[in-house]
Amino acid sequence: AKANVAMSRYEPASFVNYKKLQTNVDIVQQRLNRPLTLSEKIVYGHLDDPHNQEIDRGRTYLRLRPDRVAMQDATAQMAMLQFISSGLPKVAVPSTIHCDHLIEAQTGGVKDLARAKEVNHEVYNFLASAGAKYGVGFWKPGSGIIHQIILENYAYPGVMLIGTDSHTPNGGGLGAICIGVGGADAVDVMAGIAWELKCPQVIGVKLTGSLSGWTSPKDVILKVAGILTVKGGTGAIVEYHGPGVDSISCTGMATICNMGAEIGATTSVFPYNHRMRTYLQKTGRGEIAALADEFSDILVADKDCQYDQLVEINLDELKPHINGPFTPDLAHPVSDVGKTAKEKGWPLEVKVGLIGSCTNSSYEDMGRAASVAKQALDKGLKCKAQFTVTPGSEQIRATIERDGYSKILEDVGGVVLANACGPCIGQWDRRDVKKGEKNTIVTSYNRNFTARNDANPATHAFVTSPEIVTALAIAGTLNFNPETDFLTAPNGEKFKLKPPTGDELPSRDFDPGQDTYQHPPSDGTGLKVDVNPQSNRLQLLEPFDKWSGNDLEDLRVLIKVKGKCTTDHISAAGPWLKFRGHLDNISNNMLIGAVNSENDAINKIKNHLTGEYGGVPDVARHYKANGVSWVAVGDDNYGEGSSREHAALEPRHLGARAIIVKSFARIHVLCNLMIKCIDLAENVCVENKGKTSLISVHRNQLKEAGSAILPDDTIAIRGLKDFAPGKPLTAVVKHSDGSEETLELNHSFNETQISWFKAGSALNRMKELQ
Ligand code: F3S
Repeated sequence: AKANVAMSRYEPASFVNYKKLQTNVDIVQQRLNRPLTLSEKIVYGHLDDPHNQEIDRGRTYLRLRPDRVAMQDATAQMAMLQFISSGLPKVAVPSTIHCDHLIEAQTGGVKDLARAKEVNHEVYNFLASAGAKYGVGFWKPGSGIIHQIILENYAYPGVMLIGTDSHTPNGGGLGAICIGVGGADAVDVMAGIAWELKCPQVIGVKLTGSLSGWTSPKDVILKVAGILTVKGGTGAIVEYHGPGVDSISCTGMATICNMGAEIGATTSVFPYNHRMRTYLQKTGRGEIAALADEFSDILVADKDCQYDQLVEINLDELKPHINGPFTPDLAHPVSDVGKTAKEKGWPLEVKVGLIGSCTNSSYEDMGRAASVAKQALDKGLKCKAQFTVTPGSEQIRATIERDGYSKILEDVGGVVLANACGPCIGQWDRRDVKKGEKNTIVTSYNRNFTARNDANPATHAFVTSPEIVTALAIAGTLNFNPETDFLTAPNGEKFKLKPPTGDELPSRDFDPGQDTYQHPPSDGTGLKVDVNPQSNRLQLLEPFDKWSGNDLEDLRVLIKVKGKCTTDHISAAGPWLKFRGHLDNISNNMLIGAVNSENDAINKIKNHLTGEYGGVPDVARHYKANGVSWVAVGDDNYGEGSSREHAALEPRHLGARAIIVKSFARIHVLCNLMIKCIDLAENVCVENKGKTSLISVHRNQLKEAGSAILPDDTIAIRGLKDFAPGKPLTAVVKHSDGSEETLELNHSFNETQISWFKAGSALNRMKELQ
């Protein structure tokens, strides 16, 4: 193989560096003197200091040097705003921006894209000009979904990439370690600062047997989600291995890794194999494949390596699955879901079937869905439900159009939407049901939290494979098992659908479609980035205040949240996405989806200064205006979902000093810690033993303390002067009857993070050090 192979065709001067990876792995292997998992090889291979870094899975923090950064347009705004405020001239590692989150699905691809370009003109302009100035590649709206573009162009075995989107792990399908982070982490890496990650544990998933029939790669992760649940992957990399791996296409492996985000995993990864080689060759990267062949030892796990947990799945026995509603880990075999739905009162009628998204929009996915659609069409049947298709990239769109799949999917009743996230992120102008009307939709997406797709909390969303979505959209009911049930043709003929088929990759080359990429000039220093001070979409950032040096006294409980509190509850997506670059405006969505434990209401909390009830952001603004700081109190796995730094930035902006919860979702801890913002230091959490968290109260103490913290309490957080890693803080809770309780607060801050807290934020700290 060639000695110097470019990381991508767009960066001819940045090379794949397997030698360094090998050297670092050798150093670590000598130190640890044990077989390594693949995850460990790639992660430790990117250590800033492989000789001295303390390595202990689940305990120590690693300082890493990722190879590249990717950002989607919603998160890139805040990341670029932060990068600009760092004052650096150019990004330190290859980085890209992808415009995929802001395109609303209304009538179809062409019109929707044209409208989005108009509506988001200001944001796209800002990102394009900031990208050009600071050396970041810019993928224009219409180019496709970030993770598909990464798979097609940037991911390769052994690379470490961080992306400001929770489904970044998609690249694990190409043997890469790709981790979803907050915008602030991206800023660190783009600024050339080592990036911190708690040394991940490794969950092994051993696959035996092989996929066949209606069972698809999606079913592997739907099954794994059912076993491990939405919290099961916290703090861990899920590493697939075993003889079953080779029966899965590269894009299928990407699907599995993509949806690993739903179990809270740091990321997921597959070992380098011939399926990846073929994919690399087909996407114009045969040279990387040849080099990977040479270094294949470091791109697979060592024999006898140890996993922290092991799950085994026999693909021969795996049945098609469908998960939901409202949570991606509620797994049902497709054969059972109809019966379960009847028992539970979930609407059986499927109103809309939606295929595509970053999870399932490969050439193979589209081919298999089309093969199902074709059988119905041949019998004169169309979809009973509405049916939409979101191609993952311009390349996929152009190729499935050329090869006739789009026509079949349209003929069966489908609407091909823009190459973008669309309904997956709530960018969906849905008209067929009213808000509040109970209904069922099935998607090939990855996430199905309440109201995610259409802002209707009564929509029952189920996630499954694109081929099952297609079958259910044709049948029009959840109570249909394509493996056993018959459809009726218009002439009365009863027929069964045959299992789907589809080529993994097109027999001809991919059709690249339109050129949608803007490469930054070699020197962007003379360029200007405009942010209009009148804009309601973009706002330059003001630094957060430094810590005063004193303990925090008389904090109000803004809200005590009941039950699930995902990033969608804390900072809703959909219509709010347009304010991603404007912290003050987007803060008007803070916690408006969370349930107030005091009255079970949403966005209705008591203002303890006035005695009146109001919306959460309004009360917070009132407290802030009156100099009253506050805390929010939550339950388990607070902040699960996206790498949404706004979920951490907004409370800080509106005056929060701490978030006190039973446990944090990993992604939210990272957001808060790295983000250099709010909860940073003062984030408080009640922790399940062994789980990552910021500051926590022991469970038994909580119990002893009765309901511990009540909505009308005030809280003091003490011990900040001696804030140190592993040393609990104290919360003194004052109840309204005058009684007091003291709780011990655990936290997970290390020295560096504590220095960020003291500086007011990590960005402040970066400036102090400059
Ligand atoms: Fe976009 Fe949905 Fe993926 S929002 S990045 S298509 S999970």
